[in-house]
Amino acid sequence: MLLCCLCKSRESVLNKQHIWLFFFIAVNTVSVNGIWPMPQKISSSIERYCVKPQSFEFQYTNLSVVKPGCSVLDAAFKRYFKLIFPDLLKDPGERQSGYDRPLVKPFTLQVGVSEGDCDGYPSESSRESYRLSVASGQAVLRAETVWGALRGLESFSQLVYQDGYGAHYINKTEIEDFPRFAFRGLLLDTSRHYLPVNVILETLDAMSYTKLNVFHWHIVDDPSFPYQSKFFPDLSNKGAFHPMTHVYTQTDVRRVIEHARLRGIRVVPEFDSPGHTQSWGKGQPDLLTPCYRGPVPSGTFGPVNPTLRSSYTFMAKLFKEVTSVFPDSFLHLGGDEVDFTCWKSNPDVRSFMKQKGFGTDFYKLEALYVENIVNITSALNRTSIVWQDVFDYHEKIPKDAVVEIWKGLPPAYAQELSSITKAGHRALLSAPWYINHIRYGQDWRDSYMVKPLNFSGTEEQKKLVIGGEVCMWGEYVDATNLSPRLWPRACAAAERLWSDEEQTLSTDAALPRLTDFRCRLLRRGIRAEPLDVGYCPHEFQGV
Ligand SMILES: *[C@@H]1O[C@H](CO)[C@@H](O)[C@H](O)[C@H]1NC(C)=O
Ligand SMILES: *[C@@H]1O[C@H](CO)[C@@H](O)[C@H](O)[C@H]1NC(C)=O
Ligand SMILES: *[C@@H]1O[C@H](CO)[C@@H](O)[C@H](O)[C@H]1NC(C)=O
Ligand SMILES: *[C@@H]1O[C@H](CO)[C@@H](O)[C@H](O)[C@H]1NC(C)=O
Ligand SMILES: *[C@@H]1O[C@H](CO)[C@@H](O)[C@H](O)[C@H]1NC(C)=O
Repeated sequence: MLLCCLCKSRESVLNKQHIWLFFFIAVNTVSVNGIWPMPQKISSSIERYCVKPQSFEFQYTNLSVVKPGCSVLDAAFKRYFKLIFPDLLKDPGERQSGYDRPLVKPFTLQVGVSEGDCDGYPSESSRESYRLSVASGQAVLRAETVWGALRGLESFSQLVYQDGYGAHYINKTEIEDFPRFAFRGLLLDTSRHYLPVNVILETLDAMSYTKLNVFHWHIVDDPSFPYQSKFFPDLSNKGAFHPMTHVYTQTDVRRVIEHARLRGIRVVPEFDSPGHTQSWGKGQPDLLTPCYRGPVPSGTFGPVNPTLRSSYTFMAKLFKEVTSVFPDSFLHLGGDEVDFTCWKSNPDVRSFMKQKGFGTDFYKLEALYVENIVNITSALNRTSIVWQDVFDYHEKIPKDAVVEIWKGLPPAYAQELSSITKAGHRALLSAPWYINHIRYGQDWRDSYMVKPLNFSGTEEQKKLVIGGEVCMWGEYVDATNLSPRLWPRACAAAERLWSDEEQTLSTDAALPRLTDFRCRLLRRGIRAEPLDVGYCPHEFQGV
């Protein structure tokens, strides 16, 4: 009953008895500083409407091609109800029976989708644009696809704010929005430290709050092989930190993919080779190259052995499985940091080099390996992503391969963007967004100031930059510190990749909005670290 009364206009509460209370509480009023990431076009006014949980409803418009029963939107309506009304203890289903319901005009959010279905996966060509109109005490959200509708729901949820009495409001607002880049990724590394599935799911939740749409799962690497393979169970039995507790079962992987799908997030796995494969060797004998000390094997192993047929039949079978498990059309093949020392030491590799006429150019050997792996991937109807090393050191890689830039500071990566796109490849930028590196103070500002298209090249070249990725490498990161290290720092890149650059040039202008958004993340249970001195109306309460 209290909530109901307080939702009358603020003026009516301003009688003599209440006036002191109002001023006291008004200090704590959550202002609405806007949406993160900034929409392409937004206009709002001071006209505002009361939104009450008891009478709030999501509805499908009668013209929508998707209807009740749509898995993606039905689930999103449930989620967003809780996100919009975070302090509601009652189950949303019970709100229908509120006794004051007949007295209140319901506030409805009408959602209409004009094409597509609800059962597919988001893809490289998914359209995410939407229009949101809040006027005359109701809201209408229109999108081409369910993925666009999800982005609009997120924006809507960020428009709702509470006054000091806890009543919810939304201002009259018009939004027209679409992403600047189609690929807005976040990399998690589950090899250097194991991340429990729930921690991955929570990261996907936070990604959807910032409109990031690709989870790049760097699932295996030198230290451990937590992916539990159907065809090669020994890879994780022997290569994981622990074969039972530190693995991702097929069920775990399916959960991650479905959780991501429901939030419009693609899952792109990376199986990095031929380097970064020490853990693979434990469960797959003869895969790695034996290193030699003088004339005898030293007992250590190097990258995948590129001279053996069996290496390729193994990779083909593994990738066949991987592509049956991960539906995305992209597969990340890695290809970075291949150390030639071991190959050089091995007499069989040396005679293979001679036989192929490679001389002493081990890059040619690496190129042969990568070409084989890319061919395997193409045969499985997948687009390869490779780290920039593959482009830097090799003459031929297929035109449709996407090259991801990870090295260097501004002039260096701009030069790389220029050469990759000049060669006709699509490019992804991650070099300036290795946010596992931390610095005292507001280091999100560096991420924010990145200009992905600030390189010399034609318009055609600029179009080949499909987006970028925030990377959170795992040497010093596990479930204890992942969230605070990611959030809100990853928000800077998320806005750079979604929003119009001209409208978001100033970090000083962005700070209050990001500070607000960080409090919103806390309210949603994400342990986002503070940006500066200050407080949130609802602080993290510990566990
Ligand atoms: C929303 O409306 C309130 C009160 O009517 C006003 O104080 C506030 O500035 C408005 N916010 C925006 C973003 O327009
Ligand atoms: C859709 O709803 C609007 C009002 O909500 C109504 O005017 C219109 O006739 C409806 N269209 C159909 C096809 O039912
Ligand atoms: C190959 O992938 C594309 C894009 O994911 C898809 O549209 C097409 O149907 C696939 N082709 C085959 C033969 O599976
Ligand atoms: C990879 O595929 C291309 C095109 O089909 C072919 O020309 C090339 O020989 C293949 N490379 C290897 C190493 O099999
Ligand atoms: C844009 O590129 C120019 C030329 O490389 C460079 O001097 C400048 O610092 C770049 N600006 C940003 C914001 O990266």
